[in-house]
Amino acid sequence: MQKNTRGLMGIAAITLLSFLQQDVFSQNITIPVETQHNALVLQTNASNNLGIVYLGPKLADKKEYENIPAMYKQTAEYTGVANAAYATSGSRNLFEPAITVTHADGNGSLDLQYVKHETKKLDDNTSLLTIITKDPVYDFEVKLFYKTYFREDVTEQWSEIKHNEKGNVVLQKFASAGLYLKADNFYLRQYHGDWAREMQPEETRITHGIKTLDSKLGTRADLFQPPVFMVSLNKPATEDEGSVLYGALEWSGNFRIDLELDNQDNLRIIAGVNNHASPYTLKPGEVFTTPAFLSVLSHKGKGEASRQLHAWARNYKLLDGKGNRLTLLNNWESTYFDFNETKLKALLKDTKELGVDMFLLDDGWFANKYPRNDDHAGLGDWQENKSKLPNGVASLVHEAENNKVKFGIWVEPEMVNPKSELYEKHPDWVVKQPKRPEYYFRNQLVLDLTNPQVQDFVFGVIDNLFTKNPNLAYIKWDCNAVVYNAYSAHLTNQAHFYLQYVQGLYSVLQRIRKKYPTVPMMLCSGGGGRVDYAALQYFTEFWPSDNTDPLERIFMQWEYSYFYPAISTSNHVTDWGKQPIKYRTDVAMMGKLGFDIVVNKLNTNDLKFCQDALKTYNAYKPIIWQGDQYRLQDPGDNSVAAMMYLNAEKNTGILFNYLVNNRYDAGSERPIRMKGLDPEKRYQLKELNLYPGTPSTIGDKTYTGEFLMTVGYNPDVKASRASVVLELKAVE
Ligand code: GLA
Repeated sequence: MQKNTRGLMGIAAITLLSFLQQDVFSQNITIPVETQHNALVLQTNASNNLGIVYLGPKLADKKEYENIPAMYKQTAEYTGVANAAYATSGSRNLFEPAITVTHADGNGSLDLQYVKHETKKLDDNTSLLTIITKDPVYDFEVKLFYKTYFREDVTEQWSEIKHNEKGNVVLQKFASAGLYLKADNFYLRQYHGDWAREMQPEETRITHGIKTLDSKLGTRADLFQPPVFMVSLNKPATEDEGSVLYGALEWSGNFRIDLELDNQDNLRIIAGVNNHASPYTLKPGEVFTTPAFLSVLSHKGKGEASRQLHAWARNYKLLDGKGNRLTLLNNWESTYFDFNETKLKALLKDTKELGVDMFLLDDGWFANKYPRNDDHAGLGDWQENKSKLPNGVASLVHEAENNKVKFGIWVEPEMVNPKSELYEKHPDWVVKQPKRPEYYFRNQLVLDLTNPQVQDFVFGVIDNLFTKNPNLAYIKWDCNAVVYNAYSAHLTNQAHFYLQYVQGLYSVLQRIRKKYPTVPMMLCSGGGGRVDYAALQYFTEFWPSDNTDPLERIFMQWEYSYFYPAISTSNHVTDWGKQPIKYRTDVAMMGKLGFDIVVNKLNTNDLKFCQDALKTYNAYKPIIWQGDQYRLQDPGDNSVAAMMYLNAEKNTGILFNYLVNNRYDAGSERPIRMKGLDPEKRYQLKELNLYPGTPSTIGDKTYTGEFLMTVGYNPDVKASRASVVLELKAVE
């Protein structure tokens, strides 16, 4: 009996399906969103709902997109909205929605129908598609935006939600965007971590049901899970083969990304601000704009997707993505909180001697009533500590000038220690529950950035530093606490707290960037917890992790490098790990190089090595920062990890090779195959970053690009040569 019923339902559904398909051919609107290699095809159906009918390689004949839906004979689609471009709830949708609302009259249903669309070419590479959708019953509208970056194959999607109902509407869920994919199988590469162990990958086949990647930390997206992921289509993509979609939410707070494999075996991706504890009350006429969700799709594996994303980031998103960066000496791990003017002046001399561009003064320079001598006190009181710095920061900036180096400074302006004058004066500026005990993360609390007075204060911390020290060259902006006990004394609607915290932060950063458009700033967060593409609009670089053990870093930087370009990744040489200075420096050179060591304790050869390495870095940084990055051998699968950077002309490259396995006789047994070279060019290899007195085992033969890419080259990595850096130069 049951079987029969199912059978009947099946027939009914098939009839409905063929009706829909017929209609597709006659009058439905098809909107292809194309980039250099791909097309996302949107189409209206018989009930005028907008769905995604295709995401894949683009077709030469645009008309053929209309034929796509008929090629799928999957199981019944009961609702007509399973592939919704922006899925609603409370009407026909049976799957995870992008938007859920409670209308002014208490009704919880929403149906969004296509009204019109418009495509604007913004310049020769970018276009913006805007689609207006409306509910036929309620005066409720959602505008969907698709901004495409043609050459980079990147699409940013976001939404604007508004209504003109006779009262407020509550947005229970308000995602940025949705995608709908069809493939034989889907494989998710996601990341997890914790302090000092950020960006640990996991790759699994997606099974039916919903997989949610999310975070609820308030001040940062990541600590446990970053807002980036990859989905391989059909089979797991490798570095150079297979179709893979990268996704990332551009939001620096709570996020939620749902990946749902439905009854038809199609994958729905819905990404946005996390609606956890955050129903948003939208007034009539008010426009709610979601952050952007970005995606890039490649059919040539993870490597190409990452290079496209790097190019996009440098061209469009990362602050000063094409600009310069400063090498630096940081004093955090050499002094911690224990320093004074004399000690710092000596470090300024070391900065010059080492040969970096700048000295970066870290935590501990401020607060007087509760001096910042450890992490229990002083945060929030941004006046120079008089006993450590009797002549202020100004005298250090001046002394830096005398040493012909630049000066940068650490701040953590969003935070407060309960033991501080700021806390005493403004307890109402602090995020905490009025009737519950305080609970701390690194002995500190978060300031309430939803409050415009707090925004002024945070802006003032930076502005005062620059006003007093116009030659200040750099800011390291830290953020070492998450939000516990979310409550704002300023807000009347507590449900808006998480959202408005991040908006408050952006408004401060916008003010800072208006006044100081290009001063380099590092985005730091007690490790790599804060990086995302919204924050990187205001920052020139980020701190991937407090873990600077070079062996760990090879793995971590490898994973970060899929999503963020090398120019944005601050890598410091420290005393973490057991490897010699050469290994540590080589690893740090793969991004934006800095040092955090006691220079005057380096022996003569170590110092000489670092000085020479800095000269080499200065010569090669344009390629590391702006060139194409090729992952040659994954540290997860090989005893030798290899990463290569190549300039656009393909005539100069730099190749980093590391032994990542210390088992007996591990080394480069086989040649490492290079990528991206011109097969016809001849290349000369030369070893760089040789430790003083060590001969190179690299000969002076030349090889064609074809040879280096087909056969490969053996960099002779072994226990006694655990880190080998090679230059690659085309010769006539
Ligand atoms: C965080 C940062 C470190 C350092 C300390 C200072 O942990 O990640 O680099 O700046 O704060 O307290």
